[in-house]
Amino acid sequence: ETELSLRPLYLNQYIGQPKLKNNLEIFIQAAKLREEALDHVLLYGPPGLGKTTLANIIANEMDVNIRTTSGPSIERPGDLAAILSSLNAGDVLFIDEIHRLSRVVEEILYPAMEDFCLDIVVGKGEEARSIRIDLPPFTLVGATTRAGSLSAPLRDRFGVHLRLDYYDEENLKEIITRTAAVFDTEIDDESAGEIASRSRGTPRIANRLLRRVRDFAQVKGSEMIHIETTKQSLDMLQVDKHGLDHIDHKIMTAIIERYNGGPVGLDTIAVSIGEERVTVEDVYEPFLIQKGFLERTTRGRAATPFAYEHFNYPYRNEKRK
Ligand code: ADE
Repeated sequence: ETELSLRPLYLNQYIGQPKLKNNLEIFIQAAKLREEALDHVLLYGPPGLGKTTLANIIANEMDVNIRTTSGPSIERPGDLAAILSSLNAGDVLFIDEIHRLSRVVEEILYPAMEDFCLDIVVGKGEEARSIRIDLPPFTLVGATTRAGSLSAPLRDRFGVHLRLDYYDEENLKEIITRTAAVFDTEIDDESAGEIASRSRGTPRIANRLLRRVRDFAQVKGSEMIHIETTKQSLDMLQVDKHGLDHIDHKIMTAIIERYNGGPVGLDTIAVSIGEERVTVEDVYEPFLIQKGFLERTTRGRAATPFAYEHFNYPYRNEKRK
């Protein structure tokens, strides 16, 4: 599968997130020197920035196995207990979307993370008693788009907190060039830059756009990806010069046209464009805020003057009182 070789396997192949990388490198080295399992790691940040990739890199760097699961897929405490008791010493357990674990499942994790043990209840009624099962030392890597919705006791049990930020264009360009090489596709520098500037700081989007641009180039019979093809295909894909797609457009024009620029509540926005609240909140809003199109206020979300300008609406100062 190309998808696998697409992802960097070791930290020195990982592009971007310099601070995170430097810190993580130290923690990994120290754990290896002590011949201990790495402390539990919480990865948080918007989708598509490389949380899963980093979880796999951690396992590779520590030279241990990784077991991957996700918050919503662990339904009962017994499911998690089974996974935990099948781990080997030092292994990584990766739980994606860890904020979606149910409370009862989460409670299994506390003693597992803190003391490497399971407290399980056997028997019923009068006979019921709790027994303790030792676990091998392991590393829990949790990933979430929203560190704020983790319960405090869970969050506090992670010794290492790593936040992923949107990538700058330089790093994205490097990623695109690397991916093109993995695809055995030639791309000119300008095209890589153009895709980078329209990828909303997100490698997953950059690599997806690269695939589509490559399709256009291939069908045209080009040996190489040139800037004309790149621009044409990105326009056909309806990605604008800031990387905003048609959902971003729907969100912003809804706020401006239907709610007079806001402030308007997130639920109202979500319903009015027919998307789920979490999608708007986790996927779209962080980028719109970071790029200065959207503002969070105590009364809801509001379009900025910059958004009015970008989406071609006249901005009236007096409306924002
Ligand atoms: N592919 C996707 N994200 C990447 C990254 N951060 N570094 C290298 N290749 C990548």
